[in-house]
Amino acid sequence: MDILFPMSISKILSKISLPFLLILISTSQVFGQEDPLYSRKARFHPVVATNGMVATENKYATEAGLQVLKEGGNAVDAAVTIGFTLAVTFPRAGNLGGGGFMVAYLADTNEVIAIDYREKSPLQATRDMFLDKAGNVDKQKSRNSIFSAGVPGTVAGLTMALEKYGTISLQRALQPAIELAQKGFPVDQELSKSLIRAKKQMQKSASSMEIFYKENGEPYQEGELLTQKDLAWSLQQISKNGPNAFYEGAVAMKIDSFMKQEGGLITKEDMQKYQAVLREPVQGKYRGYDIYSMPPPSSGGVHLIQMLNILELFPLSSLGQNTAKTIHILAESMKYAYADRSKHLGDPDFSPVPVSELTSEKYAKSIKDLIKMEKSRPSSEILPGNMNIEEGPNTTHFSVIDNDGNAVSNTYTLNFSYGSKITVPGTGILLNNEMDDFSAKPGVPNAYGLVGGKLNSIEPEKRMLSSMSPTIVMKDGKPYLITGSPGGSRIITTVLQIIVNVIDFDMNIAEATNAVRVHHQWLPDVLMVERGLSGDTIKILTDMGYRVEVGSTIGVAESIMKKGEYMYGASDPRRPGGLTAGY
Ligand code: DON
Repeated sequence: MDILFPMSISKILSKISLPFLLILISTSQVFGQEDPLYSRKARFHPVVATNGMVATENKYATEAGLQVLKEGGNAVDAAVTIGFTLAVTFPRAGNLGGGGFMVAYLADTNEVIAIDYREKSPLQATRDMFLDKAGNVDKQKSRNSIFSAGVPGTVAGLTMALEKYGTISLQRALQPAIELAQKGFPVDQELSKSLIRAKKQMQKSASSMEIFYKENGEPYQEGELLTQKDLAWSLQQISKNGPNAFYEGAVAMKIDSFMKQEGGLITKEDMQKYQAVLREPVQGKYRGYDIYSMPPPSSGGVHLIQMLNILELFPLSSLGQNTAKTIHILAESMKYAYADRSKHLGDPDFSPVPVSELTSEKYAKSIKDLIKMEKSRPSSEILPGNMNIEEGPNTTHFSVIDNDGNAVSNTYTLNFSYGSKITVPGTGILLNNEMDDFSAKPGVPNAYGLVGGKLNSIEPEKRMLSSMSPTIVMKDGKPYLITGSPGGSRIITTVLQIIVNVIDFDMNIAEATNAVRVHHQWLPDVLMVERGLSGDTIKILTDMGYRVEVGSTIGVAESIMKKGEYMYGASDPRRPGGLTAGY
């Protein structure tokens, strides 16, 4: 047989004419095995690399992070470098004066960790601090005033990550940020445009105007150099004296004296007491993949897993991507999750959060049984309310993977674009307006239309509830997908759809990112869809009882996938300044 087999092949070949043989060879190259990098079926293509990859919303940050990986730093080193760099080159969301969450897979110890560096409310904060005399919520005060700021967590979070899991010095991690702040960098279109939009609110802060606008009051234009001397000073203080410079030393003093001068609430004691917290990630399973995401005080991970548990009970892949049936199942799952969010989620250091109940398969089954396939269930049958989303996505997410398989998924924010728009004089540091993420009054929606109750009411030293959902999906014990997004309430549903697009609909990460997204948050009872969904589908959904609104974009995902030896990444085209790069 050994001899017969090749002989029979050569016999067959001798009977085939040469032109036919050439056609056979060329078609097998084109239609044969799929090219692992560029599938014929893909409409969008990811960036591909084999040694390390970084996906952020800003090219300076991506370049800084990638350089650290190339020098042999690990994913945490790169992530911390990116975090500090974004504070300079992407000031609308990158920050020292805000907070966030990091989820990381550490190959050495084979564990996934979560760092909570969410802002805390100041010691002097009170439950009703944002209510006016008539008992109504004063939105200006909660969103655009000195009182909007929580005690910042970013410096504590990034330095904790570096100290515990990094390999490079803090000086090295800060070096690109310091250089870019000191020498300046050419402003890109994204930054220039966002400064035009922010100008009206920025005008209340002389320091913000001095930094981000020219003497004639015009924002820096694309290509012009933006230098931030005060921010360089703050970063240098941290480089020299570590996080203490920010929480107790020279930077803390400046924050304290500014607060005193303006009658704000953050004191030296608040700064001194702030600590980032290492938490257990929230964990779930979806069609054989392991999901790790951010636990409370983020609502993101809990509701992501809750919704995936419900979706797993439906045959999504056979129903089809973005068909009316699939969108219906997504929307119904979203409504139940967001209804639970308003009641059960808050800072776990203040009240217990029923994480295991909300993420249990039993609970998902009970919700599945309430979903009717033919009809939308009105949100009023679950609970009443209304919404008013005012802001675009102004948080920022980045993903990193290195050669050893370490991975970081990080989302951080000032809340709105440029936070409260107030810069602490002499520091270049913009203060967040995260206090608006608390429920200022039960049932009254915040800027993202989210309602809440007692668990998310303002209390001294409490962390306000978040939707930020940095997530790592694992396959066979290794990172498979690293993803996350800004977008306020729409963060959780954006991350959900990235995961479903990849797992259920076999999309590459560029396709999964580009695909049209939908969002329902229970209240208001509106199904938001992005442009690009077919009119026929919208008609079917409307007939099923949905109030469909085709509106602004949903989320800005920055994701990386690892398949075999290849890393695939994609920056979201919804915010054009992003860059994914690998080597
Ligand atoms: O923590 C949160 O959930 C919000 N402060 C995030 C804000 C955000 O994503 C801004 N973009 N809309």
